[in-house]
Amino acid sequence: MDLKQLDSEDRAVLEMAKDLALRAGRIQRDRYETGVDVRTKSATIDLVTEVDHACEALIVGALEEERPQDAIVAEEGGGEDHPDREWRWVIDPLDGTTNYAHGFPRFCVSIGVEFRDETRVGVVYDPLLDELFYAVRNAGAWLGERKLQVSTTGDFGQALIATGFSYDVHKSANDNVARFARVLKAARGLRRDGSAALDLCYVAAGRLDAYWELKLHAWDVSAGSLIVQEAGGQVTDCEGGAAPRSGEELVSSNGLLHDTLISYVKDQ
Ligand code: IPD
Ligand code: CA
Ligand code: CA
Repeated sequence: MDLKQLDSEDRAVLEMAKDLALRAGRIQRDRYETGVDVRTKSATIDLVTEVDHACEALIVGALEEERPQDAIVAEEGGGEDHPDREWRWVIDPLDGTTNYAHGFPRFCVSIGVEFRDETRVGVVYDPLLDELFYAVRNAGAWLGERKLQVSTTGDFGQALIATGFSYDVHKSANDNVARFARVLKAARGLRRDGSAALDLCYVAAGRLDAYWELKLHAWDVSAGSLIVQEAGGQVTDCEGGAAPRSGEELVSSNGLLHDTLISYVKDQ
């Protein structure tokens, strides 16, 4: 199947998710480096800005208006989840908030849409590069007009890999640092760029060969995981099993490097 063969409901959901991501991204772009209000959440390093809230209000407000029958899970608490609804929108209104607050140009909007507990549509928009990534289950993954395909790197020593750290890193012993050190010594390069959703899209686009992280949330991984899978990549937990939709554990790769990455990031 390709995008031309989508049924009308899938097409409507995809078009709405794209439109909302573009509109929220416009807010991010317009207010970037304008001295936005920043507060803390679960820890002193866990930030939220007024732009996170403005983007979420736009997306959730439009969904409540146009698709009142759908469930909504949004990072900053907007909308209502309903386990019995067929469609569920899983929204990170601004992924990369620390970057945004510091004027580091790497952040995005991420919108995943589930149908009966399976992600059906994923859209991620980087407003500074004006890059719109999207995928529909069984119909492929795209960056604008270009179909996405993961890289063909099979040698870990030639791989560019990314990871991230959760906001409890100052206090938790399960901090990803030992895993980071193991991969750092084995791969060509290792990045920590601060946007899980974009990291996943970069695996899908072949810009990264693999990406893993622990203690993420559903809104970080919903859209990006589908985009990786539809680009031919693999997404699992740290043992190689099905990745939980909660985002608790996520290992993604071009498939060729998967077992090697798992050997470095599983519990030792
Ligand atoms: C964070 C980013 C970051 C990742 C953190 C996430 P936020 O999301 O995706 O790259 O390392 O674990 O929480 O807070 O900027 O939406
Ligand atoms: Ca996030
Ligand atoms: Ca966020």
